[in-house]
Amino acid sequence: MKEQLLKMLAEREGAFVSGEEASRLLGVSRTAVWKQIRRLMEEGYTIEACRNRGYRLAGSPDRLTAAGLLSRLRTTSFGRTLHLFDEVGSTQDIAKRLAEEGAPEGTLVIAELQTSGRGRMGRSWLSPKGKGLWMSLVLRPDVPVLCTPQLTLLVAAALCRSLRRQTGLDIGIKWPNDLLVGGRKISGILLESSAEEERLRHVIAGVGVSVNLEPDDYPPELKDKAVSLRMAAGRSFDRTETAALFLESLEELYGIYRRDGFGPIRLLWEAYSVTLGRPAVLKTPDGMVEGVALGLTAHGALRVRTADGSEREIFSAEFVS
Ligand code: BTN
Repeated sequence: MKEQLLKMLAEREGAFVSGEEASRLLGVSRTAVWKQIRRLMEEGYTIEACRNRGYRLAGSPDRLTAAGLLSRLRTTSFGRTLHLFDEVGSTQDIAKRLAEEGAPEGTLVIAELQTSGRGRMGRSWLSPKGKGLWMSLVLRPDVPVLCTPQLTLLVAAALCRSLRRQTGLDIGIKWPNDLLVGGRKISGILLESSAEEERLRHVIAGVGVSVNLEPDDYPPELKDKAVSLRMAAGRSFDRTETAALFLESLEELYGIYRRDGFGPIRLLWEAYSVTLGRPAVLKTPDGMVEGVALGLTAHGALRVRTADGSEREIFSAEFVS
C-alpha cells in the first residue's frame, strides 16, 4: 500500500493527489492514506500536505528505501523480493544463505554499507555508506556449470547497457566484467555459484556500482584506477533509479538468454567491449598468454590470437596489461 501510494505520488511529478482520490484508487480510508503518508515522511520523503489539495511529493531521501525501490521497479520478479540493510558484512553472504534456504529467483539483497565487501581474486571491495549500490541477486538458471562464464558476461552487458542509458557516459566492458569509463573502473561484478551434478543450483550475482563516491572516498592506491559515475559525469545520480534500471535490463537479457541462448548476449557484450582488437597480456591458471583479443566463443571464453598466429580460448585470467 505504501509502495502504491508512493508510486502514485511519483507519477504525478510534483502535482497534488487529493486524499479522496488516493483513498478511492487504493481502496482504503482517508485515515489509512494519511497513516502511510506519515510513514513515508518518517522514511525521509518530503511530502507537502495541503488541506484542500491533498498531497504532493516534493523530495525523495538520498537513502535507499524498500518503498522507493519497489514503487520504481518495472520488473516481473527481479528485485521484487527485497532485503534492504543499513549495514552488512557482504551482501553476497546474506544472498547465499537466503538462496540455500530456498529464496526465489530474483531475490535481491542490498545494503547501504558493506564492512567486508569482496571482489574477484580475493580482493576487498570499497563500499562506503550511501554512496553506491552494493547488491546481490539470486539467480536459478538451471544450466550446466560450463555456462557460468556466459552468466558473468550477461550481467556485465546488462549493467553496461543500463548505466549508459542512465548517465550518457561512454562506459565499456573490460573482459570479462569490469565496467570502465576513461580507463577507470566504475563497477565490479562477482558471481558465486553452487552446483549439483554439473548443473548450477543457484548463482549469486554480486554487483557493486560506485555511483556517488567523491575523490576523498578513495584510498590513494585506487585514486587513478577507480572512478564514480558522479566524478565522471560531474553530477550525482539517483541510486534507486540506477538499481531499477539495472534490474530491468538484467531481467530482459536473462529472459533472452533463457529463450535464445548466449548468441544475442555475446553480440551485445562484444559491442560494449573495450578489450577486443587490442593487445592483451593475461595471467591464466596455465601461465601467461600474450596476444590480441578477437571476440568471444559460443561458450563465453575470450578468443586471443597469439604471436605465432594460433588462437587460444581463455576462460579465466587476470589482465596484466
Ligand atoms: C570485482 O572485483 O570487480 C567484483 C566486485 C563485486 C562487489 C560487489 S558489491 C555487492 C556484492 N557484495 C560483495 O561483497 N561483493 C559484491
